[in-house]
Amino acid sequence: MENNKELLKTKEFNAEEMLEVLQQSRQFMAIFNEYHSAIMEVETKLRVLDMELSMDMDKNPIETIHSRLKRPKSILEKLQRKELPVTLESMRENLLDIAGVRVICDFIDDIYKLEKLLSDQNDITVLSRKDYIKNPKPNGYRSLHLTISVPIFLTEGVKNVPVEVQFRTMAMDFWSVLEYQLQYKKKNEKVRAAQEQLKECAMDIKAVEGKMYELKTLIEEM
Ligand code: GTP
Ligand code: MG
Repeated sequence: MENNKELLKTKEFNAEEMLEVLQQSRQFMAIFNEYHSAIMEVETKLRVLDMELSMDMDKNPIETIHSRLKRPKSILEKLQRKELPVTLESMRENLLDIAGVRVICDFIDDIYKLEKLLSDQNDITVLSRKDYIKNPKPNGYRSLHLTISVPIFLTEGVKNVPVEVQFRTMAMDFWSVLEYQLQYKKKNEKVRAAQEQLKECAMDIKAVEGKMYELKTLIEEM
């Protein structure tokens, strides 16, 4: 693989080949620019809501927003894993998480508030919704996943682009980062024991979040 890359760097193309390589990379960049633009649109919508809500709440409902574009290697792996055609068309139709926005909030009620305000905007279409907060995964994973379609305005006209939005609390995020690291470890006794402990942590986190929420409500009423 590395050798191939090195070879491509120094390979001399004839004019026709060179044009093809450049056109392909332009086409590829154009597609990625669309996903990047969609991320910017969604981020702006969320920041606008965050700013407005912070005036009533005396704090920002959003702690941070992390966005990412799926890397070409992961796109290829996912198409192969799902036995889908490895074409740009198939990528566009089947992979709805190329653009990803993760929204980290303090409390669960902030998550549902933001979800509603975002979903209700009339240029947004919700394509799918998975509530792993109400129904956690067996390993303890909790987050709210929305796949939305957002319009971006290009020179040639409007295009609707899918974006996966994951809402979670800081505690859920901190849990899932650790759990994600564990997914890549070779399965052995130690890993299985860590998985069990993580499951317990997920339940502890849920309990603490519940208590903190009660306290928050109490403090607000004071
Ligand atoms: P794929 O998109 O094909 O992976 O499956 P899906 O559409 O059923 O995925 P789902 O909506 O459940 O999850 C999509 C994303 O959520 C993943 O890429 C992760 O970022 C995150 N996620 C889902 N489940 C877990 C989990 O058990 N642990 C962690 N750490 N992250 C998860
Ligand atoms: Mg998915």
